[in-house]
Amino acid sequence: MSMLKTLTPELVKGKVVVVRTDFNVPIKNGKVTEDSRILLAMPTLQFLIQNGAKRVHILTHVGRPKKKIVPELSTKILIPTIEKLLGEQVHFRSDFTASDDLVQLHENTRFWKGEKENDPNFAKQIRDGLGAELFVLDGFSVAHRAHASVVGLAEVGVEACAGRLLETEVQHLSAFLSSSRIKGLTIIVGGAKMETKVAVLKHFVKTAENILIGGALANTFLVAQGHDVGESLIEEEEEVQTAREVLKLAGTYKTGVYLPIDVQVASDPDAESVYVPTEDVSGDMKIFDLGPRTIASFREVIAHSKTIIWNGPVGFFEKPPFDTGTRDIADAIAKNETSTSILGGGDTVAAVKALGFHVEQFTHVSTGGGAMLEFLEGKELPGVKIVMQ
Ligand code: 3PG
Ligand code: MG
Repeated sequence: MSMLKTLTPELVKGKVVVVRTDFNVPIKNGKVTEDSRILLAMPTLQFLIQNGAKRVHILTHVGRPKKKIVPELSTKILIPTIEKLLGEQVHFRSDFTASDDLVQLHENTRFWKGEKENDPNFAKQIRDGLGAELFVLDGFSVAHRAHASVVGLAEVGVEACAGRLLETEVQHLSAFLSSSRIKGLTIIVGGAKMETKVAVLKHFVKTAENILIGGALANTFLVAQGHDVGESLIEEEEEVQTAREVLKLAGTYKTGVYLPIDVQVASDPDAESVYVPTEDVSGDMKIFDLGPRTIASFREVIAHSKTIIWNGPVGFFEKPPFDTGTRDIADAIAKNETSTSILGGGDTVAAVKALGFHVEQFTHVSTGGGAMLEFLEGKELPGVKIVMQ
C-alpha cells in the first residue's frame, strides 16, 4: 500500500549499508533500561546480514548532547544489548571511519555539529568515511528530524530505502490519518518534551473530540490559563503563547480540553507529597502527578472513546507514588476493549511496561513519540520523504 521504497535482497547484496536506527533508549547508570527500540530494529539488521551486505554500519543518536561529547551518552553503552539481540559481534567506532568488521556501531551522531544542522559536508564525511553504497532509514521515531544522519546521506546521493520498522510504522499509522473531525477520538498527551507537542495539539484540537493533558506539558497550559504552578517545570513564554492559542481553538472547535483540576505536589521528589486542588498550588510546590479527581475524569473520557492516541506519561512515573496517574491512564485504555488504542514515545512505552502492562493490551504501540504525532497530524516527515519511491 505504501509508496515507500522498501528493502529487497537485490538492493543489499554485496553492499556497504549504512542504517540510521533510533536507539535513543532509556539509560540509567550506564545501562539500557528499556530495549524496545533496539529489539524492533532487529528485522532490518538481520535482513541486511542474511542477504549478504558487505558491511552494516549502524548510526544513531542518544539523548540531546548539544553538539559536544557527553560520555554518558556514548553509543558504546548500547553494544551489549545489540549484541545480545542480534547474536553478532558489534564493533564500536568512535568516528565515521570503517574497519573490515561486518557490524559496526558508530558514536552518537549528535556529538557532531553538522548533525542537527544537516550540514552536507558532515553527510559527505559519513558517506565517504564509511564508503556508503546504500542508506536505510529504519528509525521511524527520528524521521521527523531533518538531521544529517536522517536525510543528509540521501541528499548527497546515496541510494536510500526504508527499513522494516519504518515500513511497519507507516503502514499501521496511515490508517489513522485524518484532517477532518474523528468521532470519539481522544488524544492524551503528557511528558516533558513540550515544544513538539504544543504545536501538534494545534492540529488535534480540530480533529479530536477530547484532549487530555498531563505531565509537564499540563503545567504550560495551566500557566496559559493564569494558574500559579509553584516551582513546577514549565516551558518558555513562546510555548505558553502557543498553549493559549490551542485553548482558544478548542473553544472555536468545541473540543474538550481536560487539564488537571487537582494534582500531587511535593517540594522535591523525595519529600512528603500531598494532593491539592490545582488552584492551591503555590510557593515551592512542584507538580509530579495528577490528583484523584483528575484521574477519575480522565478515566471517564477514556471509557467513552472509540479511538485513543496516547503520547507521554502524565506524571513522574519513575518514582512512586507519582506513577499513579500514568498507571490509571494505561489501565483505563486497556479496559476499554472496544476502542482502538495507539501508544507512542520511548517514555510512554517504557512507562507502561515498567508498570506491568503488555504491549498486546493496545492496538498499536509506536516507537515514535513526536514523529508519531506529527505523522498522524498529516505532516510529511523529512525521513519518510527521502525513502519514497
Ligand atoms: C525520540 O526519542 O523521540 C527520538 O529519538 C527523537 O529525539 P529528539 O526529540 O531529541 O529529537
Ligand atoms: Mg521525541
